[in-house]
Amino acid sequence: MSAADGAAGPGVRARESAEAIRDRVGDLHPAVGLVLGSGLGSLGDAFEDAVRIPYEELLHWPPVGVEGHSGTLVAGLLEGVPAVALKGRAHLYEGHPAEEATLPVRVLAALGIKALFVSNAAGAVNRRFRPGDLMLISDHLNLMGRNPLAGPVVVGDERFPDMSDAYDADLRRVVRETALAEGIPLKEGVYAGLLGPSYETPAEIRMLERLGADAVGMSTVPEVITARAIGVRCFGVSCLTNYGAGISPEPLSHHDVMETTERVGGRFRALVRSAIGRIGPAL
Ligand code: HPA
Repeated sequence: MSAADGAAGPGVRARESAEAIRDRVGDLHPAVGLVLGSGLGSLGDAFEDAVRIPYEELLHWPPVGVEGHSGTLVAGLLEGVPAVALKGRAHLYEGHPAEEATLPVRVLAALGIKALFVSNAAGAVNRRFRPGDLMLISDHLNLMGRNPLAGPVVVGDERFPDMSDAYDADLRRVVRETALAEGIPLKEGVYAGLLGPSYETPAEIRMLERLGADAVGMSTVPEVITARAIGVRCFGVSCLTNYGAGISPEPLSHHDVMETTERVGGRFRALVRSAIGRIGPAL
């Protein structure tokens, strides 16, 4: 048994945390987990028969501390689908080790989810994309300089998880069909995850463009890597909140990012609700 499997290992902590949550959510068996990024937080209000637990009451939970994010776990029915949503996430730029920041994903897996939906605010790198666009994530670039699986292998994890279909092709197809049916414009592209918390320089945005990125952000990648190691299928959408640095003459600000997520939030929530309604029964 390696250190990661011991009493303090993430696998054990996740199961303990999940057990305590299960005691509070009754016989709900969630099929889908959702990480609600900027602009999607209020999707938690759309849950029916919901149990809401502040993160402070959850066992082994990493503290969440970014402005505009409140930390609440919401368990209930979304469009009739049993689901658990995380309103607020731990970012690596807050100083959390990647293994800590991704513990919530392990907890969702221990609660039995079959698919994980991830969302975020991101800067547009692709010059054909603009602030306010929603982008289905087709793939990612891990440029965070760390990997949540580094260290002793956790029992039940794949040591060398295959990432060739990290953002599940079938689930993505359903999101595309949903967008079409709902008349919601949807782009698709590659998300580059950087550590942050500084925004990129114009030179870095040009580099990312050449590396094949369409959008850039500071989250999501560790969660998806962790989920794939456990065998949970993933899909996700970025809300493009600004042009990447140097693409427009405007300086970047967190305030502007939040303002765009507010503006697009209605469309974003409608897309995700409807997609979950279609995906849930098929899981
Ligand atoms: N860069 C990195 N993260 C972000 C951005 C950005 O331009 N916009 C929103 N999150």
